[in-house]
Amino acid sequence: MENQALRHILEAQQFSLEFMDEIFEEADGLREEVESRNYLNIFKTARELQGRTMLSVFYEPSTRTRTSFVLAGQKLGMNVCWTENAKEFSSATKGETLEDTIRVLCEYYPDVIVLRHHETGAAERAAKVSSVPIINAGDGKGQHPTQALLDIYTIKQCLGRVDDITVMMVGDLANGRTVRSLAYLLAKYKNVRIIFSSPEELAMKDDILQYLERKNVVVEVVNYFWPNYKDIDVIYETRIQKERGSTISEEEAKRFSLTPEKVEKLKPSTIIMHPLPRNHEISPEIDSNPRAKYFRQAGNGMFIRMALLKWVLGSL
Ligand code: CP
Repeated sequence: MENQALRHILEAQQFSLEFMDEIFEEADGLREEVESRNYLNIFKTARELQGRTMLSVFYEPSTRTRTSFVLAGQKLGMNVCWTENAKEFSSATKGETLEDTIRVLCEYYPDVIVLRHHETGAAERAAKVSSVPIINAGDGKGQHPTQALLDIYTIKQCLGRVDDITVMMVGDLANGRTVRSLAYLLAKYKNVRIIFSSPEELAMKDDILQYLERKNVVVEVVNYFWPNYKDIDVIYETRIQKERGSTISEEEAKRFSLTPEKVEKLKPSTIIMHPLPRNHEISPEIDSNPRAKYFRQAGNGMFIRMALLKWVLGSL
């Protein structure tokens, strides 16, 4: 039975503006401590979560989310135990349900479970049977709420605001979960305009479009790369999700990818983001352009996840 008092992180809609500001402020402080390499200070933070255990259970591949959660936990002094490729190496291969797996894992007294799963809604199902907080680290085509938080943090860090901006999300919007979670969070800010730019068959789903309409967000849905480059404050490129059945021709992919020629037409202040991993959406020559923020964006993930672990475990 779901314990309502637990601080689960399941979907982006659950975060209020006040909550986000608190997490961002905490992430700033944690970054300062880690960057200063003042280990006495880090240990002070670490003592807060010392002895707590994070169980990281990933049924799908991951580089950023898994590593940044593991290191976030370790930097906070937690014991961290993880399983990679749980789809193959856990008893899921013998037919065990997610619910049974979570019930059993809870018997080992973890303090938090970080879950990535290939099925939409998996984190919510896990939360219903878990006796400890569940953090959704990506559920199928559903959501990736901690990614969206670090995305907003990156926008705020780079532009100094999230209000009054135009964000263009590009690529596989039908099957990408990061763009769904990010759309939910952007809708909380004032005067945000979102351009969804994708091949027609990979367009943003109606549930998100309807949600944005209800929140009075100005939305443009186009099946070409937006030609008015000077409009854009944030370009958020995404990968074609082949593992979820998305396919487009190479020629079609090129129409939506970012080249140095396109980048030169952007305002100097425009920032380029990508949740990564990338394939061919952003040409590597762009990496040294000051507008390219995708590696910083990935790095921000660890500090946001440190702050979230503190909140989930009642230390914030
Ligand atoms: N952005 C992201 O979720 O990357 P990983 O799949 O490597 O965790």
